[in-house]
Amino acid sequence: MKAQICLLPGDGIGPEVVQAGRAVLETIASQHGHQFSFDEQLAGGAAIDATGNPLPDETITSCEAADAVLLGAVGGPKWSDPSAKVRPEQGLLKLRSVLGVFANLRPVQVLDELAAASPIKSELLKGVDLIVVRELTGGIYFGEKTRSETSASDLCTYHTHEIERIVRVAAALARKRRGKLCSVDKANVLETSRLWRETVDRLMADEFPDVELETLLVDAAAMHLLSRPADFDVIVTENMFGDILTDEASMLAGSLGLLPSASLGESTRGLYEPIHGSAPDIAGKGLANPAATIASVALLLRHSLGLESEAQQVEGAIRSVIQAGGRTADIAAPGDKVLSTSAFTEAVIKALR
Ligand code: IPM
Ligand code: MG
Repeated sequence: MKAQICLLPGDGIGPEVVQAGRAVLETIASQHGHQFSFDEQLAGGAAIDATGNPLPDETITSCEAADAVLLGAVGGPKWSDPSAKVRPEQGLLKLRSVLGVFANLRPVQVLDELAAASPIKSELLKGVDLIVVRELTGGIYFGEKTRSETSASDLCTYHTHEIERIVRVAAALARKRRGKLCSVDKANVLETSRLWRETVDRLMADEFPDVELETLLVDAAAMHLLSRPADFDVIVTENMFGDILTDEASMLAGSLGLLPSASLGESTRGLYEPIHGSAPDIAGKGLANPAATIASVALLLRHSLGLESEAQQVEGAIRSVIQAGGRTADIAAPGDKVLSTSAFTEAVIKALR
């Protein structure tokens, strides 16, 4: 098949991990006779430096023309001055919004071999296989902001249709998995959460009576995620709660460097990115774990290109490298041989072959 893929390396370790993702895509293409063409564009701090704009029009045009977008990470201390007029993160938020990718899928699996890399007791990690479906284009991230010398506000708004469409995505996923959906809100305090909960209850009763529904307040959910992680199947939640809970959930797997994400909208075009940030402290040193980006490539093959068996091949290759003892610095135990970003990528490519 033919596919056009837009690459947005971004900042910090972004270029290193996107390079790894591209190499995996090229390997898959040559193995299966696909034709993937790549267009690399500026985003984030790199785009601010070059153009003053964290998401230049050229980047938007390229993303809109693509079948899928693979992004590394954006941000870094260089652009973090609180009084700065533009920030790298604004580019990422605008991109999510322009592409209409309202559903952010963040799967979390724990490999037995990596149980020691997690700060959580290994007996609690047996069988952890969950996916957080985070609403990505609404809520407090996108509400009006005000600021004076001594006060500030961020408005959080949700419309029923925004809640319905994300819950449908999550519930349909749950139906194909273990049939359990957990909706997370703060309905004891927030009006948006009360609308969220009412909408979830009604929609699940009407359209997904076969999917088991559990509702948790976000503070309790943060605790349950650590005390009984294996119980969760699909978790659906609003934008900011999803941001926080997925960083927490990454500690089940052992490292932020392992968790991929897919952001999807109404069409098959998707935005794929590791959930980690730009990690400026380790940028350019070959220390980054490319697994999250390579796993995001697997999601890209699955969700945007419909190449399920190639997606499984990539996921299997990552697993086999780790099972054979391949460790980047973030998941290495004392005494382990540590692979660089490119050495880990090479090992995955070898496993693909
Ligand atoms: C994420 C990141 C972003 C977010 C930042 C970089 C804006 O933390 O993708 O989880 O908050 O959504
Ligand atoms: Mg985050």
